[in-house]
Amino acid sequence: MYSLNREDKKWVDEVWNKIDAKMKVVAEKNINKIPYTIDENGDFDDCATGKWPYDISWWTNGFWPGYMWLLYVGTGDELYRKAAENAEDLLDGAFAEYDHLHHDVGFMWHISAGVNYRLTGNKKSRLRALYAADFLAARYNPAGKYVRSWNADSDTDGYNKLIIDSMMNIPMLYWAAKEHGDDRFKQMAVNHADTVMKTHIRPDGTSHHIVEVNPSDGSIVKSLGGQGYADESTWTRGQAWAIYGFALSYIHTGDEKYLMTAKKVANAFIACAAQSEWIVPLDFRQPPKPVIYDATAAACAACGLLEISKTCSEYDKKNYLNAAIKLLKALDEKAADYTIDKDNLINYCSEAYKPGRGEAGLNTAIIYGDYYYTEAIYKLKGFDKLFW
Ligand code: GLY
Repeated sequence: MYSLNREDKKWVDEVWNKIDAKMKVVAEKNINKIPYTIDENGDFDDCATGKWPYDISWWTNGFWPGYMWLLYVGTGDELYRKAAENAEDLLDGAFAEYDHLHHDVGFMWHISAGVNYRLTGNKKSRLRALYAADFLAARYNPAGKYVRSWNADSDTDGYNKLIIDSMMNIPMLYWAAKEHGDDRFKQMAVNHADTVMKTHIRPDGTSHHIVEVNPSDGSIVKSLGGQGYADESTWTRGQAWAIYGFALSYIHTGDEKYLMTAKKVANAFIACAAQSEWIVPLDFRQPPKPVIYDATAAACAACGLLEISKTCSEYDKKNYLNAAIKLLKALDEKAADYTIDKDNLINYCSEAYKPGRGEAGLNTAIIYGDYYYTEAIYKLKGFDKLFW
């Protein structure tokens, strides 16, 4: 439980109630969909019926059911459970698209089927989550000591691209180690986290998005800017993946080095976000123009900061809690839309500095912005069921 002052507690309650009021309408309207973004009318699209790559195997398809489970846990409203279960059933189609799956099976199944199983004991959901975890484990490279991120079509010269986002996928391996009663799954996750700590985290606490590694020994070939501005810049969502991802590796293993890494990356994020009044750009080192924000980075970072704050002494606790609240209040004031005019909750989300689909992928609606904002408010409300 977080120790909030009366004003912040009132603010959290109001935000939660506004999200619930909006989402009761939006969930009903989209009860058989798996949304990613909105169309020109503000209506959610549907990856369950969409065209590749925004189809059933799209990496974000776990966020809508995860979002619905957050609201179900927080309100007990069966509507949200139904929406989550429908999406989980639809997601079975992705198992058949084997060639399009990669390490993001964690994002896809850990917070959909995985949460369903952990909340309700649903046996079918358990199997889905275990299939996904076993698929992820099969991507482990024992020579390089990492879980392979992408597939051969992304490789250059036979080197693998290892990405910081992976830190959010490996919690599913910690879970599978317990569920299978097989410590190898945890060893894979730990080895992966140790590799990423060395390859991706810079001495100043900023991070690389992509590092090309040699699959024969995991050695670094070169680092790439990926979805950020440039090779040596700081993609803010990557930084958020690192904050929350390393905090989660600490939670699942108790190993302090992951907490220290999460704090170091968090401190760099906080120092940069404070310079822009807690409104987070797509990259902390991008030029002033064009103006590209990424609310998803702010929301995901807030979730990681809230987890870090729980681990700290009284003094440090406030630092991380206050930083999370500042990020969330900035989102509330500048990015959130609690009306039912549009289906999405959070605006100003961006896919990449140069998104594959051009301007449409900038300063827009993306489902995981809504998910992480709601998860952060859920945490502040005092719900402590950890989804990751
Ligand atoms: N995992 C891909 C992204 O963060 O856009």
